[in-house]
Amino acid sequence: MIRRSDKLSIAGELAAGVAHEIRNPLTSLKGFMQLLKAKKTEYVDIMLVEIDRISYIVNEFIGMAKPQARNYVECDVQSLMNEVIVFMHPQSLLYNAQIRLQADPPCLPVRCEPNQIKQVFINILKNAIESMPGGGTVEIGIQMLEDRRGVVTRIVDQGGGIPPDRLAKIGEPFFSLKESGTGLGLMVCYRIIEAHKGRIDIRSVMNEGTTIEIELPV
Ligand SMILES: Nc1ncnc2c1ncn2[C@@H]1O[C@H](COP(=O)(O)OP(=O)(O)OP(=O)(O)O)[C@@H](O)[C@H]1O
Ligand SMILES: [Mg+2]
Repeated sequence: MIRRSDKLSIAGELAAGVAHEIRNPLTSLKGFMQLLKAKKTEYVDIMLVEIDRISYIVNEFIGMAKPQARNYVECDVQSLMNEVIVFMHPQSLLYNAQIRLQADPPCLPVRCEPNQIKQVFINILKNAIESMPGGGTVEIGIQMLEDRRGVVTRIVDQGGGIPPDRLAKIGEPFFSLKESGTGLGLMVCYRIIEAHKGRIDIRSVMNEGTTIEIELPV
């Protein structure tokens, strides 16, 4: 039995090695493809898209393997979420998804790396939106814990849910049930929240939806 945190550190070590070995040949391949593109073959375009996809995966991994930069600042979680909702607007339109934010009385600021926390919100909102291909509503609530020692962000979708046997695998690298998913989104979330000494909880009911709760200490 491997605990989740062990799985993550193994993945992190793997990341550093694999990503560096792949990045250099990838860059050179992309350069040659761009030269070839001048000859206008349609295959080249497909290959360039595939190379971009590999680049994306490699970059996610490299970002994850880097030692955590400790430039934490005090941030208001509600403001971070507002910025993310604006950023996600085009994608939510595309999926016909409404995003509703219910921000209760102001929360205390949390010490965090704002871009990383925004990345977590983006990855989770993206999953929520993608889980409702026919459209629907994503409800977001942000509240202080009763003892005021943390801020809880709850993201609830009305999607198809995650099958119970798959729930245990969530957060493992490359676990994806989507045709074009990389299966890295939630793993990155776990790592970031773990580095912030927070917690992520996932509850899911098939054909009803999924609730993700992220707690960050103030
Ligand atoms: N809100 C959700 N509703 C239903 N299934 C979900 C939800 N969030 C995650 N999942 C399931 O968990 C899997 C892993 O999610 P994760 O974000 O890590 O990767 P991905 O979405 O497949 O790929 P990527 O995020 O890289 O595009 C998804 O493929 C999906 O099956
Ligand atoms: Mg995802």
